[in-house]
Amino acid sequence: MLLAVFSLLLMLVLAACNSSQAEESQPMDTGLDPNEWNNYAFKDIFPEHWESYMKNMVNEKEVIQKNDPSIEPMLPIVWNGFGFAVEYNLTRGHTYALEDQLEVRRITENPDAIASCVTCKSTLVPQMIEEFGDDFWAMNVHTEIMPYLEEHAGPSRDDELGKWGHASIGCSDCHDPVTMDLRITRPSLTDGLERLGFDYENATQHDMRSLVCAQCHVEYYFDPLNDQKVTFPWGYGLTFEDQWEYSEYQASRDGGFPGEYVSTISDTPILKAQHPEFEMWSYGPHQTVSCADCHMPYQRVDGKKKISSHRWGSPMNTLEESCRSCHGDKSPTYLEERVNDIQDRHKEQLLRAQDISASAHYYANRMIVRQSEGLDISDEDIKKVQDLIREGQWFWDMPAAENSYGFHNPDGSMASFARSIDRSQEAILVATRTLMAVGEDINELERQIEITKENVINEEVHHEKHTHAINEWFPNVRDN
Ligand code: HEC
Ligand code: HEC
Ligand code: HEC
Ligand code: HEC
Repeated sequence: MLLAVFSLLLMLVLAACNSSQAEESQPMDTGLDPNEWNNYAFKDIFPEHWESYMKNMVNEKEVIQKNDPSIEPMLPIVWNGFGFAVEYNLTRGHTYALEDQLEVRRITENPDAIASCVTCKSTLVPQMIEEFGDDFWAMNVHTEIMPYLEEHAGPSRDDELGKWGHASIGCSDCHDPVTMDLRITRPSLTDGLERLGFDYENATQHDMRSLVCAQCHVEYYFDPLNDQKVTFPWGYGLTFEDQWEYSEYQASRDGGFPGEYVSTISDTPILKAQHPEFEMWSYGPHQTVSCADCHMPYQRVDGKKKISSHRWGSPMNTLEESCRSCHGDKSPTYLEERVNDIQDRHKEQLLRAQDISASAHYYANRMIVRQSEGLDISDEDIKKVQDLIREGQWFWDMPAAENSYGFHNPDGSMASFARSIDRSQEAILVATRTLMAVGEDINELERQIEITKENVINEEVHHEKHTHAINEWFPNVRDN
């Protein structure tokens, strides 16, 4: 742990040595209310930034389901029994975050959704935390948060920022509305940095250019012992391995994570990774380069003035400003090819790791079914396989939920997939030995697994796919 903290500090010290290109700004007074949350309030004061921010609306990506055969076909199996098996979308722009969140089936079909889910979606969150204190985290989205949003930000409108863009991720999440200094508005980040021993009060401007993003682009869980508060598992450090150790330690201490999900196929309690871009980046080759350097490069507007781009998307669309500022000796084509190579290798290993993980769930299912039929399979063997499944799933889920397809840390993502594949294969091996000892026909089991996977892939209605992951051969074993 000490080592991890040391390397974080070292990284931030190194980063601080990189001269920032920020133009020296005079102390500013916008005249706005210090608690201003409405994005429209900033429009007339910063017309160039507004124009850039509005581009988050223009390049609207189609909402694509991540469980599509062209992306991650095994999701309805590996998340069976959990909302993510039903609907799991790719990211869209910041200005759509609140609207997407309020309309995704995981929320609309879950009457118990809590406010913690909305924490990284709206500029009204700091105000709600102020008003409700730690009661905020567990408040009900439908009966408490929606009425609050309707009252303070409603009725939802439909103009240049869409229905909820005026209260979606915006200026006041990253800036003090009066001075426009960068600031941290989410207590989950300051808590996490404290646990790492990082002095955020004295963070440099360069640090802040990444820390504003770390408010949301991180792994987190809702702490059942602490009002369901959004908490970062940073007790041991930031690598995926550190976070795994910490989560396991906590699970053993607290008797598991009651808030997380249990697979219907393998009866395994599982942790869901969120979007650990900050952590993945923090031990990758670009850890001395800030998030804003690549994602918010300086761009000339009106032919002369330079501003930081406020259109958050792929730096590959701004390769000249985002990359060639440092890699000027490399051609754009070379850089594109390098990124594609990294991402292709990442996707290949991801699909392989998910496929093996899906099989491992079915092996556990078979053990549970056989045990219930009276065959000699011990609880310990089942538990051992389940533990391996959980570990295998975590180590593909982290780099998969991270949205750069491995670019932020090519080695970190490969190491994670290698551990994942190793753990899932170990699960299958242990299960195979146990099942063979009671006379199971492993070839037939393999055949049934393949048939089931095909049925999931072939179902064309995305939110029906998960229903094919369970069948007569592989029943839901969670509820018995
Ligand atoms: C208050 C929370 C929050 C902060 C702060 C934040 N993000 Fe995001 N970001 C999100 C969420 C949520 C999404 C996904 C939105 C969706 O899919 O509707 C997202 C999406 C993105 C995307 C993908 C956009 C797309 O079109 O798919 C990029 C790139 C991104 N953020 C970069 C950054 C960077 C860089 C920073 C820091 C300068 C940052 N974000 C700060 C919450 C945040
Ligand atoms: C996700 C975080 C984030 C959000 C949201 C955000 N900004 Fe920024 N903004 C930054 C960062 C990072 C910088 C670069 C600051 C630096 O290095 O000095 C910046 C810089 C600025 C600057 C200083 C000049 C410049 O271009 O570098 C202004 C003015 C500004 N933003 C206005 C806005 C306005 C207006 C909004 C809302 C429409 C907004 N910002 C939303 C992160 C954000
Ligand atoms: C060295 C440049 C660089 C740095 C530094 C960097 N990124 Fe990225 N980021 C990229 C590239 C390249 C991609 C992949 C884009 C693509 O696939 O088109 C990416 C992808 C992303 C995505 C997914 C975008 C999408 O369209 O879905 C998010 C979110 C993101 N980065 C956030 C961050 C955050 C947060 C940080 C800081 C902790 C960060 N990035 C640091 C270059 C960078
Ligand atoms: C502020 C400077 C800076 C910016 C901006 C920057 N890089 Fe880098 N890049 C570096 C440094 C430093 C390294 C690490 C060199 C090393 O470790 O030997 C690096 C390494 C790389 C590598 C090799 C990675 C590996 O696996 O070892 C690639 C590929 C790369 N950069 C692509 C990009 C792309 C694409 C962008 C824009 C999205 C970008 N860089 C933006 C400084 C930068």
